[in-house]
Amino acid sequence: MKIAILGGTGSIGGGLAIRWALNHDIIIGSRKFEKAELTADKYRTVLKESAGKSCSIYGCLNADAVNEADVIVLSVPYEHVVSTIETSHLNLKEQIVISIVVPMKKAGFFKYAPPACGSAAMEIKSMLPKGVKLVSAFHNVSAKKLYNTNEELNMDVFICGDDDEANLVVCKLVEDIHKLRPLIAGPLEVSSMVESLTPLLVNLAIYNKMKHLGIKCV
Ligand SMILES: NC(=O)c1ccc[n+]([C@@H]2O[C@H](COP(=O)([O-])OP(=O)(O)OC[C@H]3O[C@@H](n4cnc5c(N)ncnc54)[C@H](OP(=O)(O)O)[C@@H]3O)[C@@H](O)[C@H]2O)c1
Repeated sequence: MKIAILGGTGSIGGGLAIRWALNHDIIIGSRKFEKAELTADKYRTVLKESAGKSCSIYGCLNADAVNEADVIVLSVPYEHVVSTIETSHLNLKEQIVISIVVPMKKAGFFKYAPPACGSAAMEIKSMLPKGVKLVSAFHNVSAKKLYNTNEELNMDVFICGDDDEANLVVCKLVEDIHKLRPLIAGPLEVSSMVESLTPLLVNLAIYNKMKHLGIKCV
């Protein structure tokens, strides 16, 4: 499958690219072509050194990445979602878009800060052209743990979406990452509950001097 990661030059985009590149073609999207190319080179080197494998990862502008992909991961900070979608809008047709976006703010501790419509996912849905299927996932997975392929993840990934087929595609993509388990959490509207768990995890880590927390349902 061809997966474009918009903002794939960043923390969690890198982790997803490194993990998925073992099974998929990865396109690193960026606002800057040169940054995308250099980052793709870096990820290829990391994988060659850690897994001893040559992988298909290349870089391009966000809009071009969208044009070529079956699945698109929106992996930019919440404040930049609108501009990122606007630059890619024309190339969005019938692909699956995965939102991993968590709107949060620091006010002493970290707080969930959703838009008026309830969640980042619901806002993103309202911006996407008809025919594009939005699935919400990966909000509670640590970027650092994903990027380090020696780390055993052993976490659950909650998936929210209104299209059953698209949800299943994303479940499979979660399973493609060793020791991640997909769990369907409900329709896209449930995404607010899942997104809001991320600032909770960050606060738990800070107050208890822990690192890179995730969630496992037992
Ligand atoms: N970090 C985590 O552990 C984690 C976990 C779960 C979910 N998330 C969510 O994943 C998303 C990405 O998080 P991150 O930590 O990877 O973010 P990040 O590293 O801070 O940024 C990701 C990318 O966003 C792009 N970007 C920065 N400023 C921009 C702007 N003004 N306009 C458009 N694009 C811009 C940059 O790509 P270019 O400069 O190459 O364009 C950057 O590499 C966020 O929504 C976050 O809530 C993060």
